[in-house]
Amino acid sequence: MSVSVLVGMQWGDEGKGKIIDVLTRDAEVVIRYQGGNNAGHTVEIGSEKFVLHLIPSGILHPGTDCIIGNGVVVDPLELKKEMENLVARGISVEKLQVSSRCHLIMPWHKLLDAFKEMKADPNKKIGTTMRGIGPAYTSKMARTGLRAVEILDKQRFEQHFRDEAASYNRTFGPLGALVLDADKAFAEVWEACEYLKPYIQDSVVTVHDAVKAGKKVLLEGAQGAFLDIDHGTYPFVTSSNTTSGGACPGTGIPPRAVDCVWGVIKAYTTRVGEGPFPTELKNAEGDALRNKGGEFGATTGRPRRCGWLDIVACRHSCFINGVDYLAVTKLDVLDDLDEVKLCTAYKIDGKVTEYFPADTEELNRVEPVYETMPGWKQNTTSAQCWDDLPANAQKYLLRMAELLETKIGIISVGPKRAQTFER
Ligand code: GDP
Ligand code: IMO
Ligand code: MG
Repeated sequence: MSVSVLVGMQWGDEGKGKIIDVLTRDAEVVIRYQGGNNAGHTVEIGSEKFVLHLIPSGILHPGTDCIIGNGVVVDPLELKKEMENLVARGISVEKLQVSSRCHLIMPWHKLLDAFKEMKADPNKKIGTTMRGIGPAYTSKMARTGLRAVEILDKQRFEQHFRDEAASYNRTFGPLGALVLDADKAFAEVWEACEYLKPYIQDSVVTVHDAVKAGKKVLLEGAQGAFLDIDHGTYPFVTSSNTTSGGACPGTGIPPRAVDCVWGVIKAYTTRVGEGPFPTELKNAEGDALRNKGGEFGATTGRPRRCGWLDIVACRHSCFINGVDYLAVTKLDVLDDLDEVKLCTAYKIDGKVTEYFPADTEELNRVEPVYETMPGWKQNTTSAQCWDDLPANAQKYLLRMAELLETKIGIISVGPKRAQTFER
């Protein structure tokens, strides 16, 4: 396959970073296409653990071209830090490109993110990562945002920066938001921008040439289907299209060029932040999943909410993403359980449905209908192929694939590269 998109099927943190790293063995170009440093993609290699926030997870394979696509919102201060950290750990960032069309996360976006969350009524808090993501995309849509290309002309960039900083101070200062010292903020941001200058390229041209040359291109989604601005549990979502369709506007690759969609699905469900979560386990079973799965945010360190696999939601996710193959992760986390459950339908106000409702209020009233299967009570972490899996683990996976009407392509039984095999 020449062009593949990889997306999260749930609420993020499905293990996309790990699977991207594995698939990068066969890729020549890896591109992030939406989101920003709200993402935390973990890759473990030997005893080393890397958490990538903005830089594509393919960067750990020397020689792979890595692109931060135009759909990503970039915080120059954070990107510089991330690049410097990688370099300090011996990872080259020479093959990194930042799209000149990327919108930039500016200091006022971060202040606004915090201000809005702090002011919100407790039921309306989103529980954002406070990275300025929503406000940066708001500026993009309002057509007032700063783009990476402006960094190439200091005077123009500074003028635009100062105009927007003043507009923020004028609009939000009187409401109690922190007032920005534009001189200080500009000096800090400009230092990072100068560092990034050599990496800013017209990535659409690079990507077009790569696709034309038949290179193997991997598009790395961030977050997950139910955090998508259109298809997620609105308003408890992020501000971009996290689903596979977002890969086209976020890179400049036309839909017809995409050959394959990978859906990364955790063998159970997690969510960080606020919003509905029909199969959440607010009990010792949920705590056990969190502890065994190490379910603490890779970006913010927040404990992740945990629950059973939600087939109703994931079936919807397969449909909106057009998933060709599933990559099932964290199967090993279920190893000790006596039984495992799949939520096959929702009961809402006494009515049973197999469809994922559009109304977030309705999602709060879901009573999950479960299918219970026996656990396998065996360690799967050293399984190297399908036949190494216990029979009940195979049955769980086969039932999952049957209910989702989608093929399983990859199974992951631990955080390391080697703990992965094809179906
Ligand atoms: P991402 O945001 O989708 O890339 O996922 P995160 O990196 O935020 O969270 C996934 C976590 O699970 C990371 O700590 C990974 O190292 C870890 N992980 C990935 N796959 C597996 C797996 O199959 N088993 C276990 N036990 N951990 C995994
Ligand atoms: P990866 O790529 C899990 C969640 C936040 C919050 C909501 C909005 O690692 O899977 P934002 O800061 O984007 O405005 O927050 O989205 N969120 C994620 N949850 N994984 C992520 O990324 C996330 N990125 C954002 O917790 O609920
Ligand atoms: Mg993550």
